[in-house]
Amino acid sequence: MGFVESIQGREVFSSYIASQENKGLLRFLTCGSVDDGKSTLIGRLLYDSKLIFEDQLSALERDSKKHGTVGEDIDLALLVDGLEAEREQGITIDVAYRFFATDKRKFIVADTPGHEQYTRNMATGASTADLAVLLVDARKGMLTQTRRHAFIASLLGVRHVVLAVNKIDLAGYDQARFEEIKAEFEAFIASFEFDSSIAIPISARFGDNVSARSLNLGWFDGPTLMEHLETVDFEDAAMNGPIRFPVQWVNRPDHTFRGYSGTVSGGILRKGDQLAVASSGKTSIVERLVTYDGELEEAHPGQAVTVTLKDELDISRGDVLGSANNRPEVSDQFASHLIWMSETPLYAGRPYILKIGGRTVTASVTEIKHKIDVNSFEHLSGKQLDLNEIAFCNLSTAQPIAFDPYEANKDTGSFILIDRMTNETVAAGLIWFGLRRATNVHRQALNIDKTARAQLMGQKPVVLWFTGLSGSGKSTIANALEQKLHDLGKKTYILDGDNVRHGLNRDLGFTEADRVENIRRVAETAKLFVDAGVITLVSFISPFKAERQMARELMEEGEFYEVYVDTPFDDCAKRDPKGLYARALAGEIKNFTGLDSPYEPPEAPEITISTQDATPDALAERILERLQQDGVLSAI
Ligand code: ADX
Repeated sequence: MGFVESIQGREVFSSYIASQENKGLLRFLTCGSVDDGKSTLIGRLLYDSKLIFEDQLSALERDSKKHGTVGEDIDLALLVDGLEAEREQGITIDVAYRFFATDKRKFIVADTPGHEQYTRNMATGASTADLAVLLVDARKGMLTQTRRHAFIASLLGVRHVVLAVNKIDLAGYDQARFEEIKAEFEAFIASFEFDSSIAIPISARFGDNVSARSLNLGWFDGPTLMEHLETVDFEDAAMNGPIRFPVQWVNRPDHTFRGYSGTVSGGILRKGDQLAVASSGKTSIVERLVTYDGELEEAHPGQAVTVTLKDELDISRGDVLGSANNRPEVSDQFASHLIWMSETPLYAGRPYILKIGGRTVTASVTEIKHKIDVNSFEHLSGKQLDLNEIAFCNLSTAQPIAFDPYEANKDTGSFILIDRMTNETVAAGLIWFGLRRATNVHRQALNIDKTARAQLMGQKPVVLWFTGLSGSGKSTIANALEQKLHDLGKKTYILDGDNVRHGLNRDLGFTEADRVENIRRVAETAKLFVDAGVITLVSFISPFKAERQMARELMEEGEFYEVYVDTPFDDCAKRDPKGLYARALAGEIKNFTGLDSPYEPPEAPEITISTQDATPDALAERILERLQQDGVLSAI
């Protein structure tokens, strides 16, 4: 559920867990820094719960002797690390999930790497966890990392936390040392609203207080770690909440059957329940719950079923069915936390694909409200997000989506962002609330539309989007073309980078974030001009594919001409009409396109122009001919 599967692209433990009752299954994650003994602790838990097979055990004894890091004892860390190595060869998931069980409970432990650069892994592990075990070395006490882990756990809605003060043997089983760390921990977590927290002294290596009580820790009157894991009282919020059923696909083998397939992500879905389609508000009653293994009376969160309804409703993939009296919210603007997972930064205004449940829509960050320093929790301002950074942002989607606040449902309250060019998953997001303005602003219907205006002008409004390096000749050619169009009596306008940057965009510089915003505004402006019926010439470097693609998508089919003015860097530098290349090459101008700021050439422009072999006037003439051929200049 949630973004875990989305990120990993598969269902974790699908068949096994689906067949288990959720009650009595505790999902937890362990986080610690390198050398805190995390592997040893997990190995110890697996070992103590007797879930190691005989052959693994003898291999372990052999390896432990060979490595000799712990004398004659078995090195439990080898068990976990061994599995890890195995895992690395095959699948490339960053979080290892392990399963073990005692008489009282079943457990899934997410083992997440501890380095700072692994925020995304920890986030992945924490998004499904009920409890977090924060591991510290008794000699070192609380570290910045421990604070960071507690913060991320709390942000991702982990309700219970344990501070395992490990290696207490190396601190002489000293009660005073433990109390000191415990006091620091308690003071620190007071500001987070965990439902339960406890500090427990342990030695994972020797097993003290992990599963068995230890005479060495006779002064400690709390539970062992295992006892605590077995008895901690956790609530399955998803199960107790309203029904949520994101539709993955509409199952329609023939005209006699119409079912909606997906996985329950909230509430207990029963035959006879009244459900509403989030987007339309239409309601109906659950008729049958069908699975491969027969029909069910009820389905729990995590279970995959096909639902049939009494009435024929218009429901498609990506819709969410919810309790009729408690529906998900629907909005196209909302506030959320983003955890950025890509080497390529996030820029506000750039479009991405947002995937929530079975739904994908185009979305962009409209504002980065603040970034959060995960070590000090300070709020920082910023125009871009780098790898592993976390920020509170406003997002907008091209169409409304159904969602719940993350605190109400981790599944319907979380999403991922996907890069449109590379298909890489670039962020995990947690939704907190819809923005009121989304519902209060409506489109105003106007009597005179684009076609009416264009008819009056006797032309077909289009955008000629000139892209290329500074000094490539974009503006000169655009200028010559506008003259020709004007002479033919056509209504035109030029949006030119150097001019627009003196007015509308005078607050923007040349960082990548500012260029993204620069082009976003110009694309929106061009759209308005086209709507006004005008043939619009845009002359901006517009160095990034993503934003040119966005501009294209704002227009209708056939309205967008990408004109690539393909003048090589050296030629532009030689011409240097504004003297900028000389200064940039001397290091006086930073972020100069083609030098220390990238230019991504178009892959399939409508028109490519090479300025070496013709005059601007001849080139403009060629574009004009193309427009004539395409009927742009004829009356419509
Ligand atoms: S864009 O990259 O955001 O599309 P835009 O077309 O608006 O750029 O502005 C480019 C113009 O700004 C150039 O033609 C040049 O005259 C000027 N300029 C000033 N600094 C830079 C720079 N660092 N990189 C590129 N152009 C710059």
